[in-house]
Amino acid sequence: MEFISNCTVGTISNAAQSLKDGHLVAFPTETVYGLGADATNENAVSRIYSVKGRPVGHPLIVHISSINKLDKWAKDIPNYAIKLAREFWPGPMTLILQRTDLAEDFITGGQNNVGLRVPTHPVALALLKKFEDLGGQGVAAPSANRFGAVSPTTADAVNEELGSFFDHDDMVLDGGPCQIGLESTIINCTGIAPLVLRPGAVTKEMISVVTGNLMEDAEKVLTVRAPGMLKNHYSPKATVVINEKPKSGDGFIALSEVGTPINVIRLASPKNSEEFAQKLYSALREGDNKNLERIVVFPPAGIGLDLAINDRLDKASARK
Ligand code: TXA
Ligand code: MG
Repeated sequence: MEFISNCTVGTISNAAQSLKDGHLVAFPTETVYGLGADATNENAVSRIYSVKGRPVGHPLIVHISSINKLDKWAKDIPNYAIKLAREFWPGPMTLILQRTDLAEDFITGGQNNVGLRVPTHPVALALLKKFEDLGGQGVAAPSANRFGAVSPTTADAVNEELGSFFDHDDMVLDGGPCQIGLESTIINCTGIAPLVLRPGAVTKEMISVVTGNLMEDAEKVLTVRAPGMLKNHYSPKATVVINEKPKSGDGFIALSEVGTPINVIRLASPKNSEEFAQKLYSALREGDNKNLERIVVFPPAGIGLDLAINDRLDKASARK
């Protein structure tokens, strides 16, 4: 594997060519790092599954460089989805739409819909544009972690997770720490109104303002295949405990206004919810690197981004 610490026009072009040649390229996005492959190349996509250790049949998000490429991959797009795309792309939002024939079963897990996203990180956008210049259609990319583990928010974390599973010709692009730090909001746009399947930085409130529609609750709509709903998604090795009194030797993550109890190992002191989201995964990872048995987290308990933070923590803290 080649680790590119200096992303330039030249190295990004090489990475785009590498994708075109069927290799894997891990790249930064504003949410988390993605493990990319040519979304029309079945062999390349199958390597995503082996490198991640992910069971086959899980659908993948296809990343494109702009809303203009949307109708290559999706059809019968409802008006509210166009509004969302115009408002929040490029950005931390994935839309689930009716697929075209370009989105084959090995991308969609055999479903008739496909997840699409235009990321805003400059390295991701440059990579996608270059890949499309070379004749590529889109880049399939799940988070660049082993199945069930915490998503990486730095290139070093990608290396820690997947370094030993990469092939010689795969690449990792280092674009610095991710700004948002939690995976994109996933919105099912195949029904009459948008439905949030995974909360993220594009919040229900923001979606309601743009579309004028009230959301239903994804957890209640059992007919929809909902992402990341397996227990122990987003889990570090340490046991994650929410809002309990920390014990001696525990790791501890809380807002900076909360003091550190005695004999507890402070892993992060974010100032606000945005910083909490941004630092959460690297703090959990640091707890694992310190071989801690337990990490106690006091999450912020408001609306908006706090719902995404609590969603991931609920899964991380599910009993193993
Ligand atoms: O922020 C993100 O979305 C990151 C970056 C790299 O873009 N990607 C990401 O991908 O989080 P992944 O595969 O780790 O999580 C996507 C989730 C998975 O649980 C997958 O099953 C679900 O979204 N998903 C993808 N396509 C879907 C579809 N067509 N219908 C329902 N769920 C889908
Ligand atoms: Mg993931």
